[in-house]
Amino acid sequence: MTTTTETAHALPTDLDAVDLTDPRTFVTGDPAELHDLWQRFRTERPVHHHRATGGLPGFWALTRYEDVMAVYKDSSRFTSERGNVLSTLLQGGDSAAGKMLAVSDGARHRAIRNLMLKSFSPRALGHVVEQVRGRTRDLLSQVLDRDGFDYAEAMAEHIPMGTICDLMAVPPQDRQALLDWNKQVLSADSSEGTADEAWLARNEILLYFSDLARSRRKNPGDDVISALATGEIEGRPLTEEEIIFNCYSLIIGGDESSRMASIGAVLGFIEHPEQWRAFKAGEVTVDSATEEVLRWTTPAMHFGRRALVDVEIAGRTIPAGDIVTLWNTSANFDGDVFADPRSYDLARTPNKHVTFGFGPHFCLGAFLGREELKALLAAMRDMVGAIEPKGEARRVYSNFLYGYSSLPVAFRGA
Ligand code: HEM
Repeated sequence: MTTTTETAHALPTDLDAVDLTDPRTFVTGDPAELHDLWQRFRTERPVHHHRATGGLPGFWALTRYEDVMAVYKDSSRFTSERGNVLSTLLQGGDSAAGKMLAVSDGARHRAIRNLMLKSFSPRALGHVVEQVRGRTRDLLSQVLDRDGFDYAEAMAEHIPMGTICDLMAVPPQDRQALLDWNKQVLSADSSEGTADEAWLARNEILLYFSDLARSRRKNPGDDVISALATGEIEGRPLTEEEIIFNCYSLIIGGDESSRMASIGAVLGFIEHPEQWRAFKAGEVTVDSATEEVLRWTTPAMHFGRRALVDVEIAGRTIPAGDIVTLWNTSANFDGDVFADPRSYDLARTPNKHVTFGFGPHFCLGAFLGREELKALLAAMRDMVGAIEPKGEARRVYSNFLYGYSSLPVAFRGA
């Protein structure tokens, strides 16, 4: 993840000139401009062929809710095994293909997913959710009535990784090392780290999971690593690579996206004070507020697939082998599905956003992601009286993640 303070990048008026691979396209000064752009794609060019850029192949971009949903559902004609985000799709594949859930398909994907699902059921997660709630309230009590602090650093950074460690029952004495390695992996895209350091840190994480899986095989618990290490498919254990890649996928899937949603929730209250007042007054439920935060923030802007056969969508043929990208960030603001889509309405219902995807790859951590946000919103309602902005929020520089890496604020106690 990279962060930026770069100045606004003017969006081209010609849709053919828009570059969806360039992070600067998404870091515009005014989010309304980006919404206008997506609206134009939905109405003028819903099945858009994006030109090849920088020596990489061209690809299709789907922006209407209906089309995005149709591809998410259709894993028989669209595969994830050659990558599921632009960065890997354009490079021709993902090294974890066929081993890690997000980039596997078919019977093997279903079988590994079923094994992992046991540790992701609301009942199995009861204890993890309790810890999320406790951690959120503890962190909040430490920042209340401070003159100012960076919400991203003081709160949002700690909750998702803490939750993932709880889910995997990482022993307390190992957690700091895991957090440090993960930071090194993430800082590779910023000016702070190098690609070599990131590669080494990623290997440390994979080695750590390999050791942990070995010890869980001997002494299993009810955590997700034990489920992977002791699970069998058709009478055979998972391979070492399947176990460690799927452990790692929880960090890839659950850390940054949850952080973006959490920071976006606080920013949403700052930018829409009437929504904060309504929420604080109990006029809006935590559940409906959570769904609107998820729609509004859409942390994972896109996912993608490759067509396995020729497929017709809205009168255009996508040839077999082509890359198709699904723009959640546009689908979640499609006026055919969401009434008054650009209004931030914490009481919105129905709210069938695609923030967690849909179909066979529907986010495995959706329940947990929702619980993290609910814990934050409930704690803020109980403990915070007023929210004061204390400086500029800093945007993340990415063509995949939407959100902020820094948010200076002050919380006054209730
Ligand atoms: C607000 C937070 C989150 C967002 C926006 C999000 C979004 C998504 C989306 C859109 C997908 C579908 C990808 C595709 O179709 O190619 C996905 C898959 C996945 N997510 Fe999440 N996610 C979040 C939180 C989490 C958490 C907390 C975890 C784990 C602890 C997690 C683990 C996963 C995994 C393992 C998959 C792959 C599932 C599969 O392919 O069967 N996610 N996520």
